[in-house]
Amino acid sequence: MSITFHMATPNFAFEARDVDISQPLSAADVAQLRKGWLDAGGVLFLRKQDITPDQHIDFSRHFGNVYDQGPVNNPALAGYYLEGYPQIFQVTNKKLADGRPVGREDAGTYWHSDASWQPEPPTGSLLYARELPSTGGDTIFANMYQAYETLSEPMKKMLEGLEAQHTLLSAVLQTSYAKEYVGKLDQAQSKNAVHPVIKTHPETGRKLLFVNPGFTSHIIGLPRDESKAILDYLFAHSTKPDNVYRHVWQLGDLLMWDNRSVMHYAVPNYKAFGIRYMHRTTIKGIPQ
Ligand code: SIN
Repeated sequence: MSITFHMATPNFAFEARDVDISQPLSAADVAQLRKGWLDAGGVLFLRKQDITPDQHIDFSRHFGNVYDQGPVNNPALAGYYLEGYPQIFQVTNKKLADGRPVGREDAGTYWHSDASWQPEPPTGSLLYARELPSTGGDTIFANMYQAYETLSEPMKKMLEGLEAQHTLLSAVLQTSYAKEYVGKLDQAQSKNAVHPVIKTHPETGRKLLFVNPGFTSHIIGLPRDESKAILDYLFAHSTKPDNVYRHVWQLGDLLMWDNRSVMHYAVPNYKAFGIRYMHRTTIKGIPQ
């Protein structure tokens, strides 16, 4: 295939054209897509793909090992995987005839990078649009390389060497996760990890800011009020309009994000406008 890449917003988020992922890809095609994904700052999308769940999983496997039952391992989410496909998580407001949910309705409706409370957070996810409302339901991505690069030199120097605590409890206290952890806050608290505030991407070698409002509770070694002031500033800085790409979904879009270099936010403003039905695979993290 002769794949071409088109920037969707300055220096971030590329569309790969002239690719049909229902067809076998050569090693050279995969290498080109991987390079495009990394060059794009970690958001790459392909329009008009007509793929089965098996083809979605096979395509995902070109980028690493795919999770069965996702990175969260939460029994409350077990029913949300596509029947017969434990690799495919359903994100949707669709309901069964008896009113039970088909998938998770409010997945990721806040700024976060997936499961950063794990020592080895997922490498990335591949989200495929199967049904869309007439408006709304976009996903917004923040470029964490650019967030780092646009900090002042004194701020970069101050953050260098600092580490932050990430915990699932943070999201449970602030988001719809709350309903899945009623009476189990200790479990959410026990899911935690420490990461450098400034990380180096293992593949691109570029520095990036690795904190997110969903899971980062505090910067280690600072008084709580200093930590909060600095994190609030970093979150606001990272999500400035100049630093984000807003993906307006079209049916058949397959979008992959690099969880190591972007934060994302699923905008839950569409529910009066129809069904949004997405299939998601997630690539396991690798030791860094
Ligand atoms: C997620 O955070 O995985 C959900 C993304 C989306 O539905 O747009």
